[in-house]
Amino acid sequence: MCVRKPVYPTEHVYTMVQVMSEERKVTISVIKADIGSIAGHHKVHPDTMAAAARVLAEAKRKGVIIDFYVTHVGDDLQLIMTHRKGVDSPEIHELAWNAFKKAAEVAKELGLYAAGQDLLSDAFSGNIRGLGPGVAEMEIVERPSEPIVIFMADKTEPGAFNLPLFRAFADPFTTAGLVIDPRMHDGFRFQILDLYEGRMIELNAPEEMYDILALIGDPTRYVIKRIFRKTDGEIAAVVSSERLNLIAGRYVGKDDPVAIARVQHGFPALGEILEPFAFPHLVPGWMRGSHWGPLMPVGLRDARCTRFDGPPRVIALGFQVTKGRLIGPVDLFEDVAFDETRRLAQQIAEYMRRHGPFMPHRLHAEEMEYTTLPDVLKKLEGRWKKVEGPEAREIGKRERKESAEVQE
Ligand code: F6R
Ligand code: MG
Ligand code: MG
Repeated sequence: MCVRKPVYPTEHVYTMVQVMSEERKVTISVIKADIGSIAGHHKVHPDTMAAAARVLAEAKRKGVIIDFYVTHVGDDLQLIMTHRKGVDSPEIHELAWNAFKKAAEVAKELGLYAAGQDLLSDAFSGNIRGLGPGVAEMEIVERPSEPIVIFMADKTEPGAFNLPLFRAFADPFTTAGLVIDPRMHDGFRFQILDLYEGRMIELNAPEEMYDILALIGDPTRYVIKRIFRKTDGEIAAVVSSERLNLIAGRYVGKDDPVAIARVQHGFPALGEILEPFAFPHLVPGWMRGSHWGPLMPVGLRDARCTRFDGPPRVIALGFQVTKGRLIGPVDLFEDVAFDETRRLAQQIAEYMRRHGPFMPHRLHAEEMEYTTLPDVLKKLEGRWKKVEGPEAREIGKRERKESAEVQE
């Protein structure tokens, strides 16, 4: 008997491919919150991490999530989860919320500092965004091998990732693949948020590099949210963009950010995504969220802030995502190759610290509006006196000069 291979109509094959890729779709969710820490705004207590891990373990057992990893950087508790429910899934966000609530209960019981700090609401309302915790999520179709890196920073804010992500995805002096890998040669599309106006723009690199830089060079206002590969629109990176102070209208701790990046095989190589962090660039944050300081890449062992509540730190954990499972992590900045960066960061920290309360160590006025400084300045309001007489002319001089320039 002759057995023939079945012949599928093209449509059928297409549907099968679609079904297969649906099956391979996985969402990586990194959700973080400061729910209290030990000895001040310093380090997450292991018992709070265990409480959160218990909630996630139960969810894994029930099949709600595929896998998870709980960690911390400084005083921020980090939940890394994989599942098949897509981004902004109410079920996953509620799970994270419940894990933070449980952890916060333990924090309160232990009397930890700022227990429950980032949980701005008493009740969960369908989506964790806007309630305090930071969120970075991406849904992908898993490649045959799917390496990812998760960056988590403390004592800074989402714009801290602007410089390293720009360099990894748009700077050929950092990422050799932009020049020599045909899959990356067309470049990447940057989705940028204006946190003050609540609007978004998409710009392409390399064509619109200078426009991208015109925006993201101000990391306190413009934040890279997502990056896509131009050839096929594949998502390459995503950053959490919550600004707690903009949500709560006052300073309630820094909006310590997280980012997820896919690496290798048409994305930056592992070494290319890490390379920009070899330069400890200045980021807003540090003490009381009010100072510029160097972002120091560290291993998990050093993921805790001390000097002047800092300096700001970033960790990088590498995983393989395999059928949704998280294989790893590897602690990428633990490497001696970053020792010199850390040394330079210490020197910069020392240099910046010597400015004390002076700018540019202290943030610019607009940023300080969201700190506790306006309360202090309010006290002086009734004490200002109008300058009159010859001295007034001195002050007025500048105004006249400006208007003269306008007339010219
Ligand atoms: C920065 C941060 C700390 C605190 C500082 C004062 O993100 O969390 O630097 O701002 O330790 O904290 P309080 O006001 O709670 O004493
Ligand atoms: Mg804190
Ligand atoms: Mg923190």
